[in-house]
Amino acid sequence: MYGIINQALKLHICEKYGAASWKKIQEQSGIDLSNFTSMQRYPDSMTYQLIQTGVEVLNITAEQLIEEIGYFWVFYMGTGGYKEIFTESGDDFLSFLQNLNYLHGRVKSILPALQSPKFECTDISATQLRLHYYSCRDGFSPMVLGLVKGLADWFKEPVRIKHILLKERGDDHDVFEIKFINVESNRET
Ligand code: HEM
Repeated sequence: MYGIINQALKLHICEKYGAASWKKIQEQSGIDLSNFTSMQRYPDSMTYQLIQTGVEVLNITAEQLIEEIGYFWVFYMGTGGYKEIFTESGDDFLSFLQNLNYLHGRVKSILPALQSPKFECTDISATQLRLHYYSCRDGFSPMVLGLVKGLADWFKEPVRIKHILLKERGDDHDVFEIKFINVESNRET
C-alpha cells in the first residue's frame, strides 16, 4: 500500500496514544518509517505488522485500531493534501458514498499503482441504504466502519451502522446497513 496509509497510522497513534507509544511500536516491529514517503508503495505486510504490533503495545484489538484509523482517515483526507479531491466528491453523506469509486479513480491519477477497494450503494431509501465493500485485501472491513462513522460526523448526518455480511465469515463481500437517525426520529414524532 502507499505510504500514506502508514503515515496516517503513525499520526493517529501519536495523537491519541502519544509519541512514546509510537516509538515502542517502531522498535518492536523493527519497521523504521523515518526514510519513508507517502507517495511510494510498500508491502502490505508492513502495514499488517505495524497494526499487529500496535495491538500488542496499545492493548486494544486489531478491529478497534483499524476502525480508529478509518475514522481518522476522513479528517486527515478532508483537511490535508487530498482536500480538493475529497471536497469535490460529494456535498452530502449519501452522494459522497455513491462517489467513492470516482474518488479513488481520481486518487489513482496521482498514485497510479493504487489497488483501491470498490464500493456500491444499493437499497437506497429515505431511511437507509446498503453499502457494499469489495477489496483485494483481508482485514480492513473495520476501517469501513470507522470511515462511515467519520463521514457521518463530517457531513453532520447521524447514522446507525450494522455490518450485516462479512467476507471473513464466508460471504461474497462485506455489506453494511446504514440507517439515517434523523429520518427515523422525525418519523417517530
Ligand atoms: C481523498 C481521499 C482518499 C484518498 C487519497 C484515499 C487513498 C487511499 C489509498 C492510498 C489507499 C491504500 C491502497 C493502496 O495503496 O493500494 C486507500 C485504501 C482504502 N480506502 Fe481510500 N482514500 C480516500 C478516501 C477514502 C474514503 C472516504 C473511503 C471511505 C469508505 C476510503 C476507503 C478505503 C478503504 C476501506 C481502504 C483499505 C484498503 C482496501 O480495502 O484494499 N477511502 N485509500
